[in-house]
Amino acid sequence: MPINVLSVASEAVPLIKTGGLADVAGALPAALLAHGAAVTSLLPGYPAVLAAIGAARTVHVWDALLGQPARLLSAKLGSTDLLVLDAPGYFARPGGPYTDAAGQDWDDNWRRFAALGRAAADIASGGVAGLRFDVLHAHDWQAAMAIAYLRLAPVQAAPRVPAVLTIHNMAFQGWYDAGIFAGLELPDTAWSIDGVETYGGVGFLKSGLQLADVITTVSPTYAREIVTTEFGMGLEGLVALRGDRVRGIVNGIDTAEWNPASDTALAARYSARSLPRRTANKRALEQHFGLEESDGPLFIMVTRLTWQKGADVIPEVLDHLVGNGGRLAILGSGDAAIAAALHAGAARHPGKVAVQIGYDEALSHRMQGGGDAILVPSRFEPCGLTQLYGLAYGCVPVVSRTGGLSDTVIDANPAAIAAGAATGVQFDGVHYHALAAAISRTISLYQQAHIWRQIQRNGMAADFSWGRSAADYAAIYQQLAGAHP
Ligand code: ADP
Ligand code: GLC
Repeated sequence: MPINVLSVASEAVPLIKTGGLADVAGALPAALLAHGAAVTSLLPGYPAVLAAIGAARTVHVWDALLGQPARLLSAKLGSTDLLVLDAPGYFARPGGPYTDAAGQDWDDNWRRFAALGRAAADIASGGVAGLRFDVLHAHDWQAAMAIAYLRLAPVQAAPRVPAVLTIHNMAFQGWYDAGIFAGLELPDTAWSIDGVETYGGVGFLKSGLQLADVITTVSPTYAREIVTTEFGMGLEGLVALRGDRVRGIVNGIDTAEWNPASDTALAARYSARSLPRRTANKRALEQHFGLEESDGPLFIMVTRLTWQKGADVIPEVLDHLVGNGGRLAILGSGDAAIAAALHAGAARHPGKVAVQIGYDEALSHRMQGGGDAILVPSRFEPCGLTQLYGLAYGCVPVVSRTGGLSDTVIDANPAAIAAGAATGVQFDGVHYHALAAAISRTISLYQQAHIWRQIQRNGMAADFSWGRSAADYAAIYQQLAGAHP
């Protein structure tokens, strides 16, 4: 008998995506099947999700889910079983999953994602006829209240269902003013440091951290980092307190979606044995971005434009990058001031630096397939996926030494090159000097064609498929389900 897992996330590919969480929540269920876990994913019924699932069966109705009517729809997407929370009062809106069309957070995000959690807890604790789960797995703050409801206000007489919380990013905690507590419809006893109370308000991620049976985060290094003030962002004490429950499991990538040998977004498909074919992709990329055609190194970035991603440091290093013979193509969306600074930088370096603001999935594939190196200068990075896509595509990652970036890239120092192990370039600290030095080092490696090719091949040979990590999650489910029959 497989273990039945209810996975709760606020985004998942191919239905709705703003970042890596969607990649993980979308790919992990299929990978877990091979390890004896049958995952059903619960997602909010945003317009894009409802449109994608089409006609679906209603399996439950709430007259008032924290005040709004809601229905639970059951659907199948590929091999994945889906439950969709159709609550128009919460989710039938234009804009993104968390923000309006102007990029402002919705005022009632607390209620929208508390409702998701309340629904998840009802489902996991036997409140929906015909559905039974052995484990609940909540991703990030948007799903974390599922664990609070499960522990603090379960459906009556339900057996105890174990719960796993995965932290994809400690920087987003879902902290709200104490005034929302009444609207959560939790018992008064939940207002406690052992419950949802957090620094005088309500903390969604904190509640999950407090009450989960196992806490995972998306790389071993980040699991160690979040007990420090720099990375714990106020929750380091609680993480440390629950340290025996914390595991770091590095993300995998969906190798069906991200495979240069079969990627239909690319002008030319290729493998480690046919790397010269990448040149056609490089030409296509230069054309798309209006860059000069050249065989010199072409750097790329695919990123949210935020402080976390170090995108603000890029304008400072453009002169250095271009002065050393490099070119740079950036695809990003986010902070308007960073976008403006990048545009100004590009204007100073016509034909050498180009920026496209926006979100474009197909272009992100073409950039990995045509760029020579991907810059990932993150100040913190729980795991990071773009460096993994870079490795798979022979687009050599140049990364800051933090979180999942340190766990997944092997620096091309002389020893690693000699050992045939190098897969990229790492640097310490996100500031002009570190980044400029890393760019110089990358360009010099690029100029040594046989070494560069070896670095590309090493990265392409590295296994970042979900196999091993899915086995680690499955082992956690097994252990929890066994402990709470
Ligand atoms: P995070 O989730 O913190 O943004 P990750 O590296 O884990 O960082 O995941 C980011 C995901 O979003 C990757 O799949 C990346 O390719 C994608 N992505 C980020 N920005 C863009 C963009 N502007 N256009 C297309 N894809 C993007
Ligand atoms: C978060 C993190 C990123 C991670 C992703 C998926 O968005 O910022 O590092 O790769 O979640 O786990």
